Amino acid sequence: MFSSVFALLFLICSARCSTLLRGGTFITYSETTSNLEVITDGAMLFNDTIIAISHTIDGLDSHSTSSDVQTVNMTGKIISPGFVDTHRHTWQTAMRTLGPNVQLENYNWLFGSTGPAALILSPDDIYIASLMGTLEALNAGVTTSLDYAHMTWTRAHSDAALQGVIDSGARVWWCYHVGAVVISGDPYTVNTSAPIDQLAHIRELAKDSPFNGGLVTLGISADPPTAEMIETAQNVSINVITAHEVGGLLRLGPAR
Ligand SMILES: *[C@@H]1O[C@H](CO)[C@@H](O)[C@H](O)[C@H]1NC(C)=O
Ligand SMILES: *[C@@H]1O[C@H](CO)[C@@H](O)[C@H](O)[C@H]1NC(C)=O
Ligand SMILES: *[C@@H]1O[C@H](CO)[C@@H](O)[C@H](O)[C@H]1NC(C)=O
Ligand SMILES: *[C@@H]1O[C@H](CO)[C@@H](O)[C@H](O)[C@H]1NC(C)=O
Repeated sequence: MFSSVFALLFLICSARCSTLLRGGTFITYSETTSNLEVITDGAMLFNDTIIAISHTIDGLDSHSTSSDVQTVNMTGKIISPGFVDTHRHTWQTAMRTLGPNVQLENYNWLFGSTGPAALILSPDDIYIASLMGTLEALNAGVTTSLDYAHMTWTRAHSDAALQGVIDSGARVWWCYHVGAVVISGDPYTVNTSAPIDQLAHIRELAKDSPFNGGLVTLGISADPPTAEMIETAQNVSINVITAHEVGGLLRLGPAR
């Protein structure tokens, strides 16, 4: 009984309330100097947006008496904007710690999108891996990421990954991979026609993008993107295309 009343109050409050962060170190941006600004022992008031920042710990205390304002003691903590990760294969969270010392060459065969995973992981596995991987990012302070989703082996796998990312609540550019798909391990066989259906699926998904109130946006990933992929992106108003570029001894992706 107590917990349900508490939950109800919290819900009513979270829609309208503001939060006062009191104390702590704020890593922020100064409009005046157009530069990074670090405020120690400051304060911040916010709801869905930042309302005020103070350079002193008690500078916003006048708000703390309002019943709509929740005060949090931030002494000893750091408050910073969310980090942005521009390259993540969230589904591979399922294989976290399995290959800590493999080289890139072996990694591709063992853990990559054209390795055994394609024949082993179910859509449910991919859903859980994508959800957990994105929650893991949020937990580490990464509030925005680009997911190079190269587990687009079937429509069911693709839908499951996208749903996992949507359910996380994070801000994600979810970049649907277009490329050949492994269909047999022995003998090793890939379907080089897979992009035909992947592009058709992208055209369908694009009708509903962005998802989750604008948080999750559909993009494309490919190594390398072809003229057809770029034209498809233009036709359905997709404005993010991502690719790998690995130089050095082990050249992967398009050689430029
Ligand atoms: C957040 O606070 C500002 C300033 O008090 C107010 O104008 C705005 O309506 C509030 N937003 C929400 C979602 O409560
Ligand atoms: C905030 O937390 C610090 C560290 O735990 C503590 O010393 C301080 O008294 C607290 N301030 C308030 C207003 O509760
Ligand atoms: C290969 O992909 C094409 C087009 O996406 C599909 O029609 C075909 O059934 C696939 N072939 C196999 C053997 O999975
Ligand atoms: C893009 O749209 C044009 C006009 O409808 C169409 O002719 C073309 O085939 C489309 N391209 C792709 C790659 O789907």
